[in-house]
Amino acid sequence: MSIISSSIQKAKAILMDEDIVAIPTETVYGLAGNIFSEKAIRKIFELKGRPLMNPLIVHIAELEMLDQIASDIPQDALTLAKHFWPGPLTLVLPKKSSVPDLITANKPTVAVRMPAHPVTRALLKELDFPLAAPSANPFKRISPTKAQHVADYFPSGLELVLEGGTCEKGIESTIVGFENGRAILYRHGALAKEDIEALIGSLEEHTVNSKSPEAPGMLLQHYSPRTPLILVDDVSEAKKEHAGKNIGLLVFSTPVADHPQEKQVVLSEKAHLEEAASKLYTAMHDLDALGLDLIIAEIMPLHGVGVGMNDRLRRASN
Ligand code: TXA
Ligand code: MG
Repeated sequence: MSIISSSIQKAKAILMDEDIVAIPTETVYGLAGNIFSEKAIRKIFELKGRPLMNPLIVHIAELEMLDQIASDIPQDALTLAKHFWPGPLTLVLPKKSSVPDLITANKPTVAVRMPAHPVTRALLKELDFPLAAPSANPFKRISPTKAQHVADYFPSGLELVLEGGTCEKGIESTIVGFENGRAILYRHGALAKEDIEALIGSLEEHTVNSKSPEAPGMLLQHYSPRTPLILVDDVSEAKKEHAGKNIGLLVFSTPVADHPQEKQVVLSEKAHLEEAASKLYTAMHDLDALGLDLIIAEIMPLHGVGVGMNDRLRRASN
């Protein structure tokens, strides 16, 4: 029997019983538990195979709940929250002591967001606690953008995936923190950097190297399909270099004429960035299921959500 269900009441009952459920958000599906239940939170880390040093995002239903989670909230953070929530923006803020250290990996800060998906908003409104939720994929695998992806990832250990259709944005939230009063971009994501800068001015980018993946937990390799993937400027050229291999193509808007259709995904024939982003992970999941030798992915446009897409593809190619 499938664990996929549309019942918000069933999800609520499981969460109130200190167990976990997968929830749909506008970005990707999450693996959710009561932030105050040590049992539930431990199960999230365990099921994902995620190291405890990598903190979780807290999901809230209303702006009023922010005060229970964070303190000393910078004015720019409030401006962003009021403008972009509910939506694909995560804010890293000084945490209140009531937020368990297990959620924040002992950091003095907590990551918070208000998701926009109507099903999860309805669920959150039924609960009197926020939900901690990392993306609902095993550690280092591609994030799920459909309920079935989650069900396939966790054939055991998960009781329920709340059905919410295909995630509209299709890549994770953008993460912004504050250091010495300045806004810092920790992770590119579904909300374009330009849109944030239009509101609060220029954002510094937090750079991580492989030796210190600590802060936003951005391990260099992440989001990987099983099939080797390379990210290139010129797909046709790369195809020639790898002649003889069973190859799949992932391109932005222009199909490669001499390549079998069933082995290539065109993300947006209209060259629409948001459409392409929404299809990226599904395309990676689909190509990965074909048993190919190699996936050749084309570099996406270098602006807007294209920056986040290239970031994910680069990680997948490591
Ligand atoms: O779109 C999303 O953000 C999805 C949906 C489910 O909400 N969630 C998601 O969670 O992508 P996850 O756990 O896969 O990624 C959360 C990122 C991690 O890289 C983590 O290290 C970072 O947020 N993070 C969490 N708390 C942090 C903190 N206090 N300081 C810096 N980074 C933090
Ligand atoms: Mg993740």
